Amino acid sequence: MTSRSPLPNDLQAQRDAFHAELQRMSIIPLWLNLSTAAQTEPRVEGVPHIWRWRDIKPMMLRGGDLISPQEAERRVLMLINPAFDRKSARTVGMIFGGIQFLMPGETAESHRHTPNAHRFIIEGEGAYTAVEGERTIMRKGDYVTTPAWKWHDHGNESDQPMAWLDGLDLPFVNLLDANFFEDYQEGGLHTQPVTRRAEDSLHRWGRGLRPTWEEPARPDISPLLNYRWETSRDSLHALRHEPGSPYDGIILEYVNPLNGKSPLPTISAWLQLLRKDEHTRTHRHTSSTIYHVAEGGGGSLIGGTEYLWEEGDTFVIPSWAEHEHWSRGGEAVLFSYSDRPILKAFGFFREAVQEG
Ligand SMILES: [Fe+2]
Ligand SMILES: [Fe+2]
Repeated sequence: MTSRSPLPNDLQAQRDAFHAELQRMSIIPLWLNLSTAAQTEPRVEGVPHIWRWRDIKPMMLRGGDLISPQEAERRVLMLINPAFDRKSARTVGMIFGGIQFLMPGETAESHRHTPNAHRFIIEGEGAYTAVEGERTIMRKGDYVTTPAWKWHDHGNESDQPMAWLDGLDLPFVNLLDANFFEDYQEGGLHTQPVTRRAEDSLHRWGRGLRPTWEEPARPDISPLLNYRWETSRDSLHALRHEPGSPYDGIILEYVNPLNGKSPLPTISAWLQLLRKDEHTRTHRHTSSTIYHVAEGGGGSLIGGTEYLWEEGDTFVIPSWAEHEHWSRGGEAVLFSYSDRPILKAFGFFREAVQEG
């Protein structure tokens, strides 16, 4: 509001009384609150942040001694953006990230919830995730989907701790007041039975073929349970001589084989290769992203601050923050996921690149 000459005292008093009376009626005059409705560009509350694997891992091992997965429901270390409180479950934008871990011999019983989830395996090999009766043995670098309202559980039958990055659209579902959760209990069992053969979803939907006698239950969610690291990484390297994206290097998007869109309706995910000495150009966009360093080391300039990262680290880039990436001391592979499908679905996605 532009400054004007002071109001006569009686008018100011009348206005104050008017505003106070409105407030008692749970009504706020727009002219006192214009900044929340009219912004020339997003005022983003979330901040860039990095969680280092060398800090997380010892805490994970301590947590393994102190609390069981049964007591915890899921033993997850929630990565909450420093700008938000824990109730928000916000790591950045409309997405959540957490480190889940299972010690040898441990299980996490079946449950289901309306938020969509996926996992990217950080460390270990041999634990399983089961979704709707199909088990997949997880290995480092695998990308595993757990779509909304599907029964799922985990178990570590290996002799080493196993850790993965959980990704969920939890903040978005909470914002919509649409979060439901249920524990499995069937005939005294707390874990769903295995009813499908290993790699069932891969053979049904993941090979460029499809069974003609059935229709996918929901074409908007990927029927594929596990996108294997060796397959994804192999494709990344096979395309390494392409120019790629000026902002991301060689970057491949995980897709739902039924429609070519993101595997989950609310979360898109990528795997990207930054070649030796590659340094990307700067851009920004209204989707928020969680990055996980799958291989190698490098750095990112985010909103003018430099973040150096190495294998196992997780960092976030909030909406509209300018960013660029580079590899350091060789090649680097980044896994990332974002809330972009939500923004795109409603026409709110915007991207800007630096001139020159
Ligand atoms: Fe879950
Ligand atoms: Fe970007």
